[in-house]
Amino acid sequence: MAEPKENVLMEKIVSLCKRRGFIFQSSEIYGGINGFWDYGPLGAELKRNVKELWWNTMTRQRDDVAGLEATIIMHPQIWKASGHVDTFSDPMVDCKTCKGRFRADQTNEIPCPQKPSKMVSECHGEKTAPRAFNLMFQTYVGPVRDESAIAYLRPETAQAIFAQFKNVLETSRQRVPFGIAQVGKAFRNEVTPRNFTFRSREFEQMELEFFIKPDEVVEAICGRVATAAEAFGVPPSGSPEPAKAGTPNSQPLGSAKRSGDGSTLNPQPNWGWEAWHKYWVEERIKFYEGIGLPRTTLEEYWQKPEELAHYARACVDILFKFPFGTQELEGIAARSDFDLSQHERFSGKPMGVFDEELRTAWAKLPKEKSDDLWRRYYENRKKYLFKMGVAEEAAARDAAEDANGLAKGQYIPHVIEPSAGVDRLILALITNAYSEVAETDNKGKTDTRVILKFHPRVAPVKAGVMPLLKNKPELVKKAMEVRDRLRPWMNVFYDDAGSIGRRYARQDEAGTPFCVTIDFDTLGEKPELKDTVTVRFRDDGRQERIAIGELLNWLLPKVR
Ligand code: GAP
Repeated sequence: MAEPKENVLMEKIVSLCKRRGFIFQSSEIYGGINGFWDYGPLGAELKRNVKELWWNTMTRQRDDVAGLEATIIMHPQIWKASGHVDTFSDPMVDCKTCKGRFRADQTNEIPCPQKPSKMVSECHGEKTAPRAFNLMFQTYVGPVRDESAIAYLRPETAQAIFAQFKNVLETSRQRVPFGIAQVGKAFRNEVTPRNFTFRSREFEQMELEFFIKPDEVVEAICGRVATAAEAFGVPPSGSPEPAKAGTPNSQPLGSAKRSGDGSTLNPQPNWGWEAWHKYWVEERIKFYEGIGLPRTTLEEYWQKPEELAHYARACVDILFKFPFGTQELEGIAARSDFDLSQHERFSGKPMGVFDEELRTAWAKLPKEKSDDLWRRYYENRKKYLFKMGVAEEAAARDAAEDANGLAKGQYIPHVIEPSAGVDRLILALITNAYSEVAETDNKGKTDTRVILKFHPRVAPVKAGVMPLLKNKPELVKKAMEVRDRLRPWMNVFYDDAGSIGRRYARQDEAGTPFCVTIDFDTLGEKPELKDTVTVRFRDDGRQERIAIGELLNWLLPKVR
């Protein structure tokens, strides 16, 4: 029997997460439930910060993205239209000896039921032939448990965005190109949840569906479509380039250079899907860098043509170097007009938009040009309809109708989808922040302590506030005043228990970037230091004296 594989770093991280209240096993008192995790006091703050930063970056700080918060259970036809009912499955085998059920591609190792971060060898009994197992959780709506009442817990947040596309368009006064963002729970009955929270059965997604004009429409309006290479001044990283040795098609970030002043990241009207796709890859990497994941911890993986979903034109996975391997953090897919088209066909409701600019431009096109664009649009639509099982004749007729719409300014938008998992990002942030320091005390005893070096923007607690001594009422009073000053603006933690060194160490382990100490100088023992505090930096122990009146303005730009 093969030796159980242990990942020492993961063991330490799982144990720290429990010990410090980041992540607990769900229903632990009943022995836990595989693939479900709860976030404790520090984890809940960390998660909230991550979701808020994503939301602010993707919606509030942009003019071209609106938000949505949809229900988890939706009309079951949504999942018929999206393809999830028919194709969202993993191949599974049953073991005739141990009666276990496993993913067909993972029959050698499974997560240990007692320690999910440890992989153990699985029974070598005879297996059945693989069968498709749908990953959606099923339930019933209403009191009757029959076929007509079946509903699903959403396996992704994206489909609600497509289903509400027209409502958002009409109420937000947006015009294509624009996006709809959503953060929320998703559920997948994963056959083998593994690697702590990495593959869970209940998790959260942060998804943007960014709607763009089809290339034929951009060409009709602008004369021609800028490629990603033109838009960014470099070839799109990955796609047409030869695969590197090792991980095929995978490359460290940074090889696709961005322009120094960032100006090429300003979207232009002549951008087609390629440039928009590249733009979102860059924006998302920038986001990760901005919350403390250095480029060296990330990789871009451009899916090879044979790996792409049939409707996708390109898909880039942003990978993170987890302790158990380099794995997907986020996928950024160019999904063509597949989703809106599917919902149009299944609901019978039009999902297209009207674009006056297109109508005007089309009327002015030379016939040769409009014929060429008509034909290309027609071919794409016909191909899609045919693939979806529409008979050839009907597909040709409907595609011609769609292409005729261009002259009237009508089309179905295409979409670029950056789709990130909250829980995977939390795990990436914790593993990236994890560091150990060995310290020897004055008795010669060496101890290892943990520092979580979170970026201050995501850190669960922004500042620890501490009176030097807890039995000096003047110090305590002043420290509470400082805490109350900061509290409306950020999460602070007041701590007066134990030696100041122990209190610093506790905050280091929680990832608190700054500790604010109120001492006798604060009270005026040295008159020139009256009403100042010591700010101690988590990562290097450096200390700085700051006036209480300036503390908030000093902290705010660092933690937001
Ligand atoms: N709408 C597209 C979509 O859902 P996906 O690649 O299946 O695409 C997107 O999921 C992201 O959601 C992944 O990159 C990952 O971060 C997260 N995710 C997917 N399945 C997950 C699971 N079982 N546990 C935790 N996160 C998951």
